[in-house]
Amino acid sequence: MKGTSAGRFGASRAKDADGGGRRFPAGGILIPFFSRSGRTRMVAGVIHELTGGSLCEIRGEKSYPSDYYETTAVARREKETGARPPVSGALPDLSGIGTVFLGYPNWWYDMPMVVYSFVEALDFSGRTVAPFCTSAGSGLSATVETITRMIPGATVLEGLALTDREVNGASVAVTEWLSRLGFARRD
Ligand SMILES: Cc1cc2nc3c(=O)[nH]c(=O)nc-3n(C[C@H](O)[C@H](O)[C@H](O)COP(=O)(O)O)c2cc1C
Repeated sequence: MKGTSAGRFGASRAKDADGGGRRFPAGGILIPFFSRSGRTRMVAGVIHELTGGSLCEIRGEKSYPSDYYETTAVARREKETGARPPVSGALPDLSGIGTVFLGYPNWWYDMPMVVYSFVEALDFSGRTVAPFCTSAGSGLSATVETITRMIPGATVLEGLALTDREVNGASVAVTEWLSRLGFARRD
């Protein structure tokens, strides 16, 4: 996990578009993400730059094949069997964390199964979770609804979806998304 630093954005009580206030929980920011080929990692880096917080890469104990199509076959089998691949290494401590930016690539219109393992292993109650996703074009699919179902004690916010082509200029989209979520610029 990388160290916490002050980003240009911070949790605020900015008004939502509908005029209601959103109260972010007190506490730190954690940015856990899974990324096989680096795109979600890049978006996580942008979020980290803008918000501070701690990056936390989710890795499975078994790595996926380097071949893309072999990986899609393995991932498809994992999804069809409802696999829960074990997460490698220690899980993060959520005790001081109020806001979680959870990142993953879209795999077969869903989250990679190792992200399910990660989410199920932790207690997100009382925390605010903002999902972000990269994909070839499927966007978030139904992952925000899935996450909301998995962690009923948390507040799950609007997700951010970027296509592979959009990842390289992600900071504009991420900045707009953070503003929509109610994160205020510090400068
Ligand atoms: C196993 C697997 C399944 C995928 N399934 C989808 C999909 O259903 N829809 C889609 O738009 N992209 C799909 N993709 C493409 C990835 O979501 C996309 O390339 C993503 O940006 C990769 O993120 P990463 O570089 O962080 O691993 C899939 C890729 C892999 C490896």
